[in-house]
Amino acid sequence: MNIAVFASGNGSNFAAIAEAIKKGEIKANLKALIVDKPKAYVISRAKEYNIPCYIVKLKDFNNKEEYEEKIVSILKPLNIDLICLAGYMKICGEVLLNNYPNKIINIHPALLPAFKGAHAILDAYNYGVKITGVTIHYVNNEIDGGKIIAQEAVTINDDEKIETLETRIHEVEHKLYVKTINKLLEDYNARIIKC
Ligand code: GAR
Repeated sequence: MNIAVFASGNGSNFAAIAEAIKKGEIKANLKALIVDKPKAYVISRAKEYNIPCYIVKLKDFNNKEEYEEKIVSILKPLNIDLICLAGYMKICGEVLLNNYPNKIINIHPALLPAFKGAHAILDAYNYGVKITGVTIHYVNNEIDGGKIIAQEAVTINDDEKIETLETRIHEVEHKLYVKTINKLLEDYNARIIKC
């Protein structure tokens, strides 16, 4: 199975996937990292893991369709089977969704449908919920929308600092993303009929 990761920032989830592939814990090929922010730290992580990185900026195109067509033109020759969004802070448009139906997944640092958006950990913390968590879901054209694949709860301790909660959520994310990709890989391999 050939995987592409899309990211916009730090890239700790990208690194977790790249590391798991390097160690053979995920038996797949990480073919590309697509980044929409030229200064994102994830770019240096891709260099570290020797993963081809493509920086594609929306503002270099007339519209979102052309931007996504460029991304598709990069991915098609690589025969990508699964796109993992990992802190990719854009909504996927029709071009990506139509070219990769049920093949784009996203990780979100809250128990969806609660706390959608870019600041989920802080929003859950400020709301005062006692349990938050991590969700992995198929992607549709809504912010953090689409069928849920996996979730893991994280209890917020009394008097917990936001920083420790963030660290604990990210630790759960890294493990759950690897586990979920492996589950999808199992399903994918089960569909191949040997003759
Ligand atoms: C992760 O916590 C991910 O769940 C979140 O962005 C962070 C990226 O961290 N995504 C969303 O909030 C999507 N709505 P990373 O760059 O270190 O992987």
